[in-house]
Amino acid sequence: MVSGAELNIQPDSQALATAAADFIAEQVRANPDLSILVATGNTPMPTYAELARRVRAGELEMNRVVAVQLDEYLGVAEDDPRSLWSWMLRSFVEPLGIRRTVKLEDPRTFEAAIAALGGLDLAILGLGPNGHLGFNEPPSPADAPTRVLELTPESLASNAAYWGELPVPRQAITAGMDIILAARKTLLLVSGAHKRAVLRSALEDGPTPDLPASLLRRTPLTVVADEAAWV
Ligand code: PGA
Repeated sequence: MVSGAELNIQPDSQALATAAADFIAEQVRANPDLSILVATGNTPMPTYAELARRVRAGELEMNRVVAVQLDEYLGVAEDDPRSLWSWMLRSFVEPLGIRRTVKLEDPRTFEAAIAALGGLDLAILGLGPNGHLGFNEPPSPADAPTRVLELTPESLASNAAYWGELPVPRQAITAGMDIILAARKTLLLVSGAHKRAVLRSALEDGPTPDLPASLLRRTPLTVVADEAAWV
Protein backbone atom coordinates (compact mmCIF):
# COMPACT_ATOMS: atom_id res chain seq x y z
CA MET A 1 0.00 0.00 0.00
CA VAL A 2 1.26 3.46 -0.85
CA SER A 3 0.62 6.02 1.83
CA GLY A 4 1.79 9.57 2.39
CA ALA A 5 2.55 10.34 -1.25
CA GLU A 6 0.76 11.58 -4.30
CA LEU A 7 1.80 9.29 -7.15
CA ASN A 8 1.81 10.50 -10.73
CA ILE A 9 2.79 7.75 -13.18
CA GLN A 10 3.60 8.78 -16.74
CA PRO A 11 4.10 6.56 -19.81
CA ASP A 12 7.73 7.53 -20.47
CA SER A 13 10.52 9.85 -19.42
CA GLN A 14 9.41 12.70 -21.72
CA ALA A 15 5.87 12.61 -20.32
CA LEU A 16 7.44 12.53 -16.86
CA ALA A 17 9.36 15.72 -17.73
CA THR A 18 6.18 17.46 -18.90
CA ALA A 19 4.26 16.48 -15.75
CA ALA A 20 7.12 17.50 -13.47
CA ALA A 21 7.57 20.81 -15.31
CA ASP A 22 3.80 21.43 -14.92
CA PHE A 23 4.12 20.84 -11.17
CA ILE A 24 7.13 23.16 -10.81
CA ALA A 25 5.58 25.86 -13.03
CA GLU A 26 2.44 25.83 -10.90
CA GLN A 27 4.50 26.41 -7.74
CA VAL A 28 6.44 29.24 -9.38
CA ARG A 29 3.25 30.92 -10.59
CA ALA A 30 1.82 30.77 -7.07
CA ASN A 31 5.06 32.18 -5.60
CA PRO A 32 7.58 33.70 -8.04
CA ASP A 33 10.17 33.97 -5.23
CA LEU A 34 10.12 30.21 -4.67
CA SER A 35 13.26 28.75 -3.04
CA ILE A 36 14.08 25.42 -4.68
CA LEU A 37 16.54 22.72 -3.68
CA VAL A 38 17.87 21.50 -7.02
CA ALA A 39 19.01 17.93 -7.68
CA THR A 40 21.44 17.14 -10.46
CA GLY A 41 21.83 13.56 -11.78
CA ASN A 42 20.30 12.18 -14.95
CA THR A 43 16.65 11.95 -13.93
CA PRO A 44 15.71 15.65 -13.68
CA MET A 45 17.52 16.77 -16.86
CA PRO A 46 14.56 16.35 -19.27
CA THR A 47 12.40 18.25 -16.75
CA TYR A 48 14.88 21.15 -16.59
CA ALA A 49 15.09 21.16 -20.40
CA GLU A 50 11.29 21.39 -20.58
CA LEU A 51 11.28 24.30 -18.10
CA ALA A 52 13.97 26.02 -20.17
CA ARG A 53 11.88 25.55 -23.32
CA ARG A 54 8.91 27.22 -21.60
CA VAL A 55 11.08 30.10 -20.38
CA ARG A 56 12.49 30.65 -23.89
CA ALA A 57 8.97 30.54 -25.35
CA GLY A 58 7.85 33.22 -22.87
CA GLU A 59 5.35 30.84 -21.23
CA LEU A 60 7.07 30.88 -17.84
CA GLU A 61 9.27 33.22 -15.78
CA MET A 62 11.64 31.81 -13.21
CA ASN A 63 14.06 34.71 -12.76
CA ARG A 64 12.98 35.47 -9.18
CA VAL A 65 13.45 31.88 -7.99
CA VAL A 66 16.28 31.05 -5.56
CA ALA A 67 18.19 27.91 -6.59
CA VAL A 68 19.78 26.03 -3.71
CA GLN A 69 22.47 23.40 -4.26
CA LEU A 70 21.66 19.92 -2.95
CA ASP A 71 25.05 18.22 -2.88
CA GLU A 72 28.67 18.38 -3.99
CA TYR A 73 31.79 16.26 -4.10
CA LEU A 74 34.48 17.32 -1.67
CA GLY A 75 37.57 19.01 -3.09
CA VAL A 76 36.20 19.46 -6.61
CA ALA A 77 36.76 22.93 -8.08
CA GLU A 78 34.08 24.78 -10.08
CA ASP A 79 35.97 24.27 -13.33
CA ASP A 80 36.30 20.52 -12.75
CA PRO A 81 33.95 18.62 -15.10
CA ARG A 82 32.62 16.73 -12.05
CA SER A 83 31.48 19.87 -10.19
CA LEU A 84 27.82 19.45 -9.26
CA TRP A 85 27.59 23.22 -8.73
CA SER A 86 28.56 23.77 -12.36
CA TRP A 87 26.09 21.07 -13.44
CA MET A 88 23.32 22.93 -11.58
CA LEU A 89 24.35 26.24 -13.19
CA ARG A 90 24.42 24.72 -16.70
CA SER A 91 21.20 22.73 -16.47
CA PHE A 92 18.99 24.89 -14.25
CA VAL A 93 20.22 28.32 -13.19
CA GLU A 94 21.48 29.70 -16.51
CA PRO A 95 18.80 28.33 -18.87
CA LEU A 96 16.04 29.52 -16.53
CA GLY A 97 17.52 32.99 -16.06
CA ILE A 98 17.82 32.54 -12.28
CA ARG A 99 19.83 35.24 -10.49
CA ARG A 100 19.83 34.11 -6.87
CA THR A 101 21.63 30.97 -5.75
CA VAL A 102 22.84 29.33 -2.55
CA LYS A 103 26.05 27.35 -2.96
CA LEU A 104 26.76 24.40 -0.68
CA GLU A 105 30.30 24.77 0.67
CA ASP A 106 30.23 25.02 4.43
CA PRO A 107 27.45 23.35 6.47
CA ARG A 108 27.05 26.24 8.89
CA THR A 109 26.91 28.99 6.26
CA PHE A 110 24.55 26.86 4.18
CA GLU A 111 22.13 26.25 7.02
CA ALA A 112 22.19 29.96 7.92
CA ALA A 113 21.40 30.85 4.29
CA ILE A 114 18.42 28.46 4.26
CA ALA A 115 17.18 29.90 7.55
CA ALA A 116 17.50 33.42 6.11
CA LEU A 117 15.31 32.32 3.20
CA GLY A 118 12.69 31.16 5.70
CA GLY A 119 13.25 27.51 4.72
CA LEU A 120 12.80 25.81 1.37
CA ASP A 121 9.58 26.00 -0.59
CA LEU A 122 10.29 23.06 -2.88
CA ALA A 123 12.82 20.21 -2.98
CA ILE A 124 13.35 18.58 -6.38
CA LEU A 125 14.99 15.22 -5.79
CA GLY A 126 16.15 12.13 -7.62
CA LEU A 127 16.21 8.70 -6.03
CA GLY A 128 19.55 6.98 -5.41
CA PRO A 129 19.91 3.29 -6.18
CA ASN A 130 20.33 2.73 -2.42
CA GLY A 131 17.52 5.13 -1.47
CA HIS A 132 19.81 8.08 -0.82
CA LEU A 133 18.55 11.66 -1.16
CA GLY A 134 21.24 14.08 -2.24
CA PHE A 135 24.19 12.29 -0.65
CA ASN A 136 22.33 11.33 2.51
CA GLU A 137 23.55 7.76 2.37
CA PRO A 138 21.82 5.02 4.37
CA PRO A 139 21.52 5.12 7.29
CA SER A 140 20.47 8.79 7.51
CA PRO A 141 17.97 9.66 10.22
CA ALA A 142 15.41 12.43 9.79
CA ASP A 143 17.52 14.87 11.82
CA ALA A 144 20.77 14.21 9.92
CA PRO A 145 22.30 17.68 9.39
CA THR A 146 24.14 19.16 6.42
CA ARG A 147 27.52 17.43 6.58
CA VAL A 148 30.53 15.86 4.91
CA LEU A 149 30.42 12.08 4.49
CA GLU A 150 31.93 9.09 2.72
CA LEU A 151 30.06 7.86 -0.33
CA THR A 152 28.84 4.25 -0.30
CA PRO A 153 29.97 1.74 -2.96
CA GLU A 154 26.48 1.96 -4.56
CA SER A 155 26.74 5.72 -5.00
CA LEU A 156 30.33 5.52 -6.25
CA ALA A 157 29.18 2.98 -8.85
CA SER A 158 26.10 4.91 -10.00
CA ASN A 159 27.95 8.25 -10.11
CA ALA A 160 30.76 6.72 -12.16
CA ALA A 161 28.34 6.66 -15.10
CA TYR A 162 28.36 10.50 -15.17
CA TRP A 163 32.12 11.03 -15.51
CA GLY A 164 33.56 8.55 -18.03
CA GLU A 165 37.20 7.94 -17.21
CA LEU A 166 37.36 10.37 -14.27
CA PRO A 167 37.20 8.80 -10.81
CA VAL A 168 34.29 9.62 -8.53
CA PRO A 169 35.48 11.56 -5.45
CA ARG A 170 34.99 9.42 -2.33
CA GLN A 171 33.72 12.18 -0.08
CA ALA A 172 30.84 14.59 -0.50
CA ILE A 173 28.85 17.28 1.26
CA THR A 174 25.08 17.07 1.28
CA ALA A 175 22.16 19.18 2.40
CA GLY A 176 20.92 17.41 5.53
CA MET A 177 17.81 15.30 5.86
CA ASP A 178 16.62 17.97 8.32
CA ILE A 179 16.58 20.58 5.55
CA ILE A 180 15.14 18.26 2.90
CA LEU A 181 12.31 17.00 5.11
CA ALA A 182 11.40 20.55 6.17
CA ALA A 183 10.75 21.68 2.57
CA ARG A 184 7.17 22.84 2.15
CA LYS A 185 6.77 20.57 -0.90
CA THR A 186 8.85 17.74 -2.27
CA LEU A 187 8.95 16.46 -5.82
CA LEU A 188 10.65 13.08 -6.25
CA LEU A 189 11.46 12.14 -9.85
CA VAL A 190 12.04 8.49 -10.72
CA SER A 191 12.76 7.07 -14.15
CA GLY A 192 13.76 3.66 -15.45
CA ALA A 193 13.40 -0.03 -14.60
CA HIS A 194 16.61 0.04 -12.54
CA LYS A 195 14.78 2.23 -9.97
CA ARG A 196 11.69 0.04 -9.68
CA ALA A 197 12.67 -1.98 -6.60
CA VAL A 198 14.01 0.99 -4.67
CA LEU A 199 10.94 3.11 -5.50
CA ARG A 200 8.58 0.37 -4.25
CA SER A 201 10.62 0.05 -1.11
CA ALA A 202 10.70 3.83 -0.54
CA LEU A 203 6.92 3.96 -0.79
CA GLU A 204 6.03 0.79 1.06
CA ASP A 205 8.74 -0.12 3.59
CA GLY A 206 9.67 1.64 6.79
CA PRO A 207 9.84 4.62 7.05
CA THR A 208 13.41 3.91 8.08
CA PRO A 209 16.79 5.72 8.10
CA ASP A 210 18.11 2.66 6.25
CA LEU A 211 16.21 3.95 3.23
CA PRO A 212 16.36 7.76 3.50
CA ALA A 213 13.80 8.25 0.70
CA SER A 214 11.18 6.39 2.77
CA LEU A 215 11.31 9.27 5.29
CA LEU A 216 9.82 11.54 2.61
CA ARG A 217 6.43 9.93 3.24
CA ARG A 218 6.18 12.12 6.36
CA THR A 219 6.31 15.23 4.14
CA PRO A 220 4.01 16.72 1.47
CA LEU A 221 5.42 14.43 -1.24
CA THR A 222 4.61 14.19 -4.93
CA VAL A 223 6.28 11.38 -6.87
CA VAL A 224 6.40 11.63 -10.63
CA ALA A 225 7.66 8.36 -12.13
CA ASP A 226 7.57 6.69 -15.51
CA GLU A 227 5.98 3.30 -16.08
CA ALA A 228 9.36 1.63 -16.35
CA ALA A 229 10.02 2.60 -12.73
CA TRP A 230 6.60 1.58 -11.51
CA VAL A 231 4.51 -0.92 -13.49
P1 PGA B 1 20.10 9.70 -11.29
O1 PGA B 1 20.68 9.86 -9.81
O2 PGA B 1 19.03 10.72 -11.43
O3 PGA B 1 21.28 9.96 -12.17
O4 PGA B 1 19.57 8.30 -11.40
C1 PGA B 1 19.84 9.89 -8.71
C2 PGA B 1 20.66 9.82 -7.43
O5 PGA B 1 21.64 9.06 -7.37
O6 PGA B 1 20.31 10.53 -6.47
